[in-house]
Amino acid sequence: PVSVFDNPNAASLSVAHRIANLIKKKQEQNEMAVLGLATGATPIAVYAELVRLHKEEGLSFKNVITFNLDEYYPMLPTAAQSYVTFMNENLFDHIDIDRKNVNIPDGTLSLEEIPAFCLEYEKKIGQLGGLDIQILGIGRTGHIGFNEPGSAPNSGTRLVTLDDLTRRDAARDFGGKSFVPTKAITMGIGTIFKAREIILMAWNRKKASIIKKAVEGEISSEVPATYLQLSDNVEFILDKEAASDLT
Ligand code: F6R
Repeated sequence: PVSVFDNPNAASLSVAHRIANLIKKKQEQNEMAVLGLATGATPIAVYAELVRLHKEEGLSFKNVITFNLDEYYPMLPTAAQSYVTFMNENLFDHIDIDRKNVNIPDGTLSLEEIPAFCLEYEKKIGQLGGLDIQILGIGRTGHIGFNEPGSAPNSGTRLVTLDDLTRRDAARDFGGKSFVPTKAITMGIGTIFKAREIILMAWNRKKASIIKKAVEGEISSEVPATYLQLSDNVEFILDKEAASDLT
């Protein structure tokens, strides 16, 4: 299903409140909420609202475990452009989550260490009973996580090569495309698919054409987000502009 909101802020509030409701429901059941998180511009207002709910309304994250979708490779966690820094600045530094419950792919591993790390990432999610909610943005290549065109529908967490367009879109954050890493560690399409709820968010006119392909286009590895059409647990949360090419 597709939900269209007047503006990104209204859409973001609705996503934040769904996450908050899940966390509260799990608290009542004395269970952990297992969240799959995304970085980038799209979810920033979602995290801001979760921080507000913590500070102003007492929402606790003590029963929350998080798994981020991806991290650049190689990448130091302390680097300004790392997704660790992004998550700390936008969410984790402002809430009461136990840092032991935060999982983000490790951009400091040696190439030899990556396969075992990726298997362990998958195993850890599985042992916790799977992701309750996975939130996603979408890249202009149609990537979800960093599953670029060509990604297999059953792919797991792995090292991938970033598409040239993805690196161009990241160039501003890095002060030039040549400084953007060529690789990343990402959850796979298969990893994302196992989540009980998947919420893909997109805002602004510049996402309209890829959203049209993702929602209405032929299912193909050329646009990895089209695989989401095969899931019953997906919701596309859009603003009017991102939805403007849909028929
Ligand atoms: C980020 C991620 C990416 C982004 C996508 C959109 O963790 O996995 O798929 O969601 O590149 O980025 P923004 O939101 O910056 O347009």
